[in-house]
Amino acid sequence: MPVIELLESMEKACNSHYHNQSLLLLLPLFLSLLVAGLAYPTQNEQSQIISRFQQYLQINTTQPSPDYQSSTQFLLSQANSLSLESQVIEFVKGKPVILLKWPGSDLSLPSILLNSHMDVVPFEPSKWTHPPLGAYIDEGGNIFGRGSQDMKSVGMQYLEAIRRLKLSGFQPKRSLYLSFVPDEEIGGYDGAKKLAYSDVFKDMNVEIVLDEGLPSTDENYRLFYAETAPWWLVIKSNGAPGHGAKLYDNSAMENLLKSIESISRFRASQFDLLKAGLKSKGDVISVNIVFLKAGTPSPTGFVMNLQPSEAEAGFDIRVPPTADIESLEKRIEEEWAPASRNMTFEFKQKATPHDDLGRPLITATDGSNPWWTLIEEAIKKANGKIGKPEILTGATDARYYRQLGLTAIGFLPMTNTPFLLHDHNEFLNKAEYFKGINVYESIIKAYTSYIPPGRDGVSRDEL
Ligand SMILES: *[C@@H]1O[C@H](CO)[C@@H](O)[C@H](O)[C@H]1NC(C)=O
Ligand SMILES: *[C@@H]1O[C@H](CO)[C@@H](O)[C@H](O)[C@H]1NC(C)=O
Ligand SMILES: [Zn+2]
Repeated sequence: MPVIELLESMEKACNSHYHNQSLLLLLPLFLSLLVAGLAYPTQNEQSQIISRFQQYLQINTTQPSPDYQSSTQFLLSQANSLSLESQVIEFVKGKPVILLKWPGSDLSLPSILLNSHMDVVPFEPSKWTHPPLGAYIDEGGNIFGRGSQDMKSVGMQYLEAIRRLKLSGFQPKRSLYLSFVPDEEIGGYDGAKKLAYSDVFKDMNVEIVLDEGLPSTDENYRLFYAETAPWWLVIKSNGAPGHGAKLYDNSAMENLLKSIESISRFRASQFDLLKAGLKSKGDVISVNIVFLKAGTPSPTGFVMNLQPSEAEAGFDIRVPPTADIESLEKRIEEEWAPASRNMTFEFKQKATPHDDLGRPLITATDGSNPWWTLIEEAIKKANGKIGKPEILTGATDARYYRQLGLTAIGFLPMTNTPFLLHDHNEFLNKAEYFKGINVYESIIKAYTSYIPPGRDGVSRDEL
């Protein structure tokens, strides 16, 4: 049980009928932790930790016009209080990337990057029980706010973990970088993408990136090793126009409908695999129709006695890196938008499932990747349980780093927490927030201390 959680339960116990008894039961545990030399946050330190999180939540970094000035100022003052090196880089004017550094003692070792985004998605205040920028804490310890899950929590947890490691006298061997990026919620093109392809980044010599993941509704933390790639497909059909009363073959509408039927059958086949439990969410190709555009407009709606010569439909397709890309491309060309049926198609977006070196955009989860083993061990050491590695069904900034061929792991330290990213009443429980800090403390320790076997004659077992 993490120390903070223990203190929380002591706090709860104090408010219960079993006051004395519970305290007595917890006392030996508490003492043994003290003997073990673990630093634990006092009530006062706990409330400061929460108050810093609240301050960050209260800064309005809502897209489309985030208050970067305030968030930058706030983060720099945090960095200052931790004696971290800092720089603010504007690859694009007005969109700052805040880069913090805790230098390691062995500069020949590649570094670690912990990424988080400052921006949050918009909200509808009337649908919230507490103001989305208020960081209100209810009696159950739930902290309400846009960004409490996605992902101001993580940005602050990195900093709090560093604070505690510094207090304990820990010195990293590898350098640790923190990036706070401005625009993940609108694609990350001016933030993480620019950073990943910059000279600054080359000089950082990063080997592993931690980025966001998803909360878990059960007790197991979730780790993500890949993402599905968005393919936004628009198909267009042509056909002879005709009177609305005429029966004839190959109208634009008919041609489009044939495609939609074919796509629907494919969608059902993928969905069936998921429903039957044969594949997981991140392993199937999802296809959803997102727009239909057809008909001949009239002042009162649509012309009713005319079959149009053109029709169009749009689809949001998400392709896992494990999918057979060539067969999907062939399917689109031959079945969904065949030229033989007067169809054309284009992609509004077609993310590549391969990295710059031509390999599938996947971070290895087996023994070949020490970072995967290390994070699993570190989470367990902090008393966390871990579920099966997953593919994230969505796009995050991690893809830019995987694109470079780097290890990138998606992780959100939240268990027993409802999935409220981008939802109304987004909240995170205090206890869960504290647990997350413990987990990052453990991860940072493991990552920044890691020396590959054989290096400097030191084997991993000796570390
Ligand atoms: C927060 O910023 C957004 C612009 O991105 C703005 O529309 C909204 O009114 C702001 N909310 C508050 C409470 O300041
Ligand atoms: C393709 O379009 C042309 C011109 O509108 C039409 O004559 C032809 O019948 C169409 N063929 C098919 C298969 O839709
Ligand atoms: Zn996010």
